[in-house]
Amino acid sequence: MKIILMGGPGAGKGTQAVGLVEKYNIPHISTGDMFRAAIKDGTALGLKAKSYMDAGGLVPDEVTIGIVAERLAQPDCAKGFLLDGFPRTLAQGNALGDILDRLGMKLDGVINIEVDEKILIPRLTGRRVCRKCGASYHMIFNAPQQEGVCGQCGGELYQRSDDTVETAQNRLNVYNQQTEPLIAFYTEKGLLKRINGDQAIDKVLQDIMKALV
Ligand code: AP5
Ligand code: ZN
Repeated sequence: MKIILMGGPGAGKGTQAVGLVEKYNIPHISTGDMFRAAIKDGTALGLKAKSYMDAGGLVPDEVTIGIVAERLAQPDCAKGFLLDGFPRTLAQGNALGDILDRLGMKLDGVINIEVDEKILIPRLTGRRVCRKCGASYHMIFNAPQQEGVCGQCGGELYQRSDDTVETAQNRLNVYNQQTEPLIAFYTEKGLLKRINGDQAIDKVLQDIMKALV
């Protein structure tokens, strides 16, 4: 299964990715996670990405396209993959088309998780993420059993530095300007599947799996 997960910041892409990669046994390719790992490791990529992410803007296309091209060419992607947070601009969408053509691959579907803008900001500001395994929680909507502790691995939960109200709002503006045009782009290709993301987490997962049959 070769899938793209789209949706605004906080729509639930990372949350749904967990269930989908398990169900289809495919690698989870999140450009946001790749950049955060690079920042943590202090690599050249991390240094490049940090200022853009801190401001809620996009990392330049040439950097992002390069890391995705490299990742998709790895052998474990031959059986399928879940792209989460890529593409995010029309240039990235076109580049992805070229990369997949070169690899002889075709997308099975593009999932767009739709959530009203008003809900996205509180989802982001209430999010807490596990430092150890990356699991995502929400202080109100998806609270861990023990405050501050990951229910899956016991790791410490933290707040992402770009989940402040101001940066979250910037991310939403950037999404509306640069990423939303991809909805029409994939609709024209007959690949877009619209999913109501304002439902219980399990129900959203069921709807996505139904849409991919
Ligand atoms: P990235 O990490 O991709 O951030 P994002 O797209 O803003 O998405 P999020 O991770 O914030 O949200 P999500 O949809 O995964 O939501 P989640 O499941 O956690 O990118 C970060 C930055 O990296 C970008 O700003 C940019 O700078 C850079 N970047 C990344 N990719 C790039 C690219 N391709 N090009 C250029 N730059 C790039 O859920 C959110 C919260 O809601 C959680 O607390 C969760 O528990 C809760 N929740 C989830 N589902 C539900 C539900 N159904 N009901 C109630 N609560 C729910
Ligand atoms: Zn954990």
